[in-house]
Amino acid sequence: MARRQPEHPDGPKGAFLPFRHRHLLGIAQLNPVEIIDLIDRAEAMIPISRQQKTLPNLAGKTQINLFFENSTRTQASFEIAGKRLGATVMNMAVNTSSVAKGETLVDTAATLNAMQPDAIVVRHGSSGAVELLSQKVGCAVVNAGDGAHEHPTQALLDALTIRRHKGRLNGLTIAICGDIANSRVARSNLILLGAMQARTRVIAPKSLLPRGVEQMASEVFTDMREGLRGADVVMMLRLQNERASGKLIPSVREYYRFYGLDAEKLAHANADALVMHPGPMNRGVEIDPAVADGPQSVITEQVEMGVAVRMAVLDALLDKEGEDA
Ligand code: NCD
Repeated sequence: MARRQPEHPDGPKGAFLPFRHRHLLGIAQLNPVEIIDLIDRAEAMIPISRQQKTLPNLAGKTQINLFFENSTRTQASFEIAGKRLGATVMNMAVNTSSVAKGETLVDTAATLNAMQPDAIVVRHGSSGAVELLSQKVGCAVVNAGDGAHEHPTQALLDALTIRRHKGRLNGLTIAICGDIANSRVARSNLILLGAMQARTRVIAPKSLLPRGVEQMASEVFTDMREGLRGADVVMMLRLQNERASGKLIPSVREYYRFYGLDAEKLAHANADALVMHPGPMNRGVEIDPAVADGPQSVITEQVEMGVAVRMAVLDALLDKEGEDA
């Protein structure tokens, strides 16, 4: 039975809902109240994260980061988040582990589970792999991105960043542009922003739009300038070349000409529109460096918010008073 640590003087203030899920596998499993609660929890973590303080919430707990796909910011962010809450964090190097020797996902899960971790943070190239793993272990599982399916903490950190600048999510016009078809970031964001009553737009060439996209977004555009008109937020996405997106466009030059965010295209959005990108960015492919580093860009802030969101998620999942974890 997990016991809540005594409240830390610098800890998040105010009452939050008990998190009733065992895992965080996707935004789709959350209702609007739970989404807002997680964003509020993350907001409360920002001062702790900024001052590089450590809360005792997860002292004595063990978190394993299991990344089957490359990652810089997400893995580092989950590591720092766990450490700022006092957890022991272990990064599994998949390339040098038994996975490289052909061990199956389920066997890897069983092996890690036998070491009694409290949380496993998983990134995997196949949609659904994280959910499968969650069924085989006795601890909390956090989805850090599974194939083109979901990336819930990215959507939460994007929402937190937007809310801090715009004061709300509902009623905002948010344009997501690029490789929608292969992007778990787009999917999780569309689900979250839809639940928050934002007006969502997707902008992409037809070849990069998934089937059924009309059900996921309020509006669909193939012309970027039209799609950007009146937007409060412009979210750019990387071409997911590891998921063969490169083959779906005529050439990178052509793609940049029609779908690269430069100052001229950005001028079609509202003057105070935020420019966002989950990273890693391909400068000169989907975004002009001058825009990425320009005054409307909140890209670095997204990274900062990522730590606060992951602290909030780990805390919500693991720091459960009077409940079996
Ligand atoms: C994204 C991902 O891995 O889905 N990156 C991230 O988590 N910051 C987006 C991407 O890889 O393009």
